Amino acid sequence: AQGAFKLNYEQLVRGVTGLVPDRDIDSVQELPRLEALKASAEEGADIKACRRRCCRGCLHPADVPGLLPPACCADLLKQTAVLKLNGGLGTSMGLEKAKSLLEVKGGKTFLDLIAEQIKYTRQKYDSKVRFVLMNSFSTSADTKAYLRKSHSDLLEERDVELMQNMSCKVDAATLKPAEYSEHPDMEWCPPGHGDIYPSLLGSGMLDRLIDDGITYLFVSNSDNLGATLDLDLLAYFAGSDKGFMMEASGVCEREVSDKKGGHLARRKKDGRLMLRESAMCPDEDKSLFEDITLHKFFNTNNLWVNLRKLKATLDASDGVLQLPLIKNKKTVNPRDSSTPPVFQLETAMGSAIECFDDAGAVVVPRSRFAPVKTCNDLFALRSDAYKVTEESTVVLAAPSPPLIKLDDKHYKLVDQLEALAPEVPSLYHCKSLTVKGPVRFLAGVAIRGDVTLTNITETPVELRGRTFEDVSLEV
Ligand code: UTP
Repeated sequence: AQGAFKLNYEQLVRGVTGLVPDRDIDSVQELPRLEALKASAEEGADIKACRRRCCRGCLHPADVPGLLPPACCADLLKQTAVLKLNGGLGTSMGLEKAKSLLEVKGGKTFLDLIAEQIKYTRQKYDSKVRFVLMNSFSTSADTKAYLRKSHSDLLEERDVELMQNMSCKVDAATLKPAEYSEHPDMEWCPPGHGDIYPSLLGSGMLDRLIDDGITYLFVSNSDNLGATLDLDLLAYFAGSDKGFMMEASGVCEREVSDKKGGHLARRKKDGRLMLRESAMCPDEDKSLFEDITLHKFFNTNNLWVNLRKLKATLDASDGVLQLPLIKNKKTVNPRDSSTPPVFQLETAMGSAIECFDDAGAVVVPRSRFAPVKTCNDLFALRSDAYKVTEESTVVLAAPSPPLIKLDDKHYKLVDQLEALAPEVPSLYHCKSLTVKGPVRFLAGVAIRGDVTLTNITETPVELRGRTFEDVSLEV
């Protein structure tokens, strides 16, 4: 952990920009696609042999030239751990505890659904796939209290919690540790999800998992309910024998909001895959960065790591992966802009793709990338446009996903949303809903087609028992 902080701090002091101009990279134009791999495996003759051993037809690596012999997915599950990133605070939605404790659907939180997904997989395949939550000092107590109450069986398991490191905020003026005597706890921050590597190593969990026979680690954000443990991907990753694999999403699904996220590229100097985040792109190349025909594939943050290879990679680099610094400028009290400016030194987990000699990426369907980043996402998810399946995954129920735009002034924070939308309207037939001004949704409201609702006053207008279809209306 100290090594990682030192590296970040040195990058800050040296003013390393980490900028990667387009002339230094080649764009990635082709990647294997999960759907094509599934289809080719379905056709393979070997799949029948596999069906006899495990209860379903898993993707057969033998069908993909150059890969290892096939393995049954039930055997693979015994060598697999699922890790959910749960250390962030969801500050952009105004949260002060783990986002995974937010209620999503039918009274269930993200954490309930994640726990149920794990239990379902274990039961179905009669295989005790391991489960780990990466918590930070800000999320650990709440998360464990919730598990104790609702999933005490999980809490009792060995190494269910990976505690990430605390990093001191750095005073932007002096580059010394920030001081804030009113709230000393605010002098610290979790150092981003790239901290997973030093946390795994420093806590000894990496060695313990390997000793327990765990080789494959599937990591994803706890707010992405689309990131389920896909057995075909597991079999493909295991068969590829790669150290690291990123699930990428492709251009046809890449939406405007995705332009901000990192895209995959190859460094010209060594041909390695790398992740270029928007902060790493020089201003003069911003239009190229956003050109989704050039840079087609972006990171979903669903990652697969071979723990033995991670260990070897860490050993070869004195225990510290060389990840680019993300310099996050905030005020020491993020809710009080009059407090001193600080830098939070962070790294991103996906940027480790260039630390592995043999990293790869696979294009997955959009359904595997459904993070809740805003109250718009949460509002849609809570509606009847989405449903929870038997496996506790959340899938689209409606013919198409509704596009929600609630105004930032009245709906940006979860508390605001919950006050104004105690009942989420029916969005099953909604193409888009735009709300400007405070509109309070009560029981029995349905939205169909493209609807805009405007309230120009600051007094909330209450709606109850009404259907709106293809209208733009002042309510
Ligand atoms: P994000 O930074 O996108 O999460 O991290 P967020 O919580 O939505 O962000 P803000 O606070 O509103 O900007 C993606 C995932 O990584 C986890 C988060 O909990 C989330 O699941 N994470 C983030 C960590 O586990 N540790 C960290 O230090 C940062």
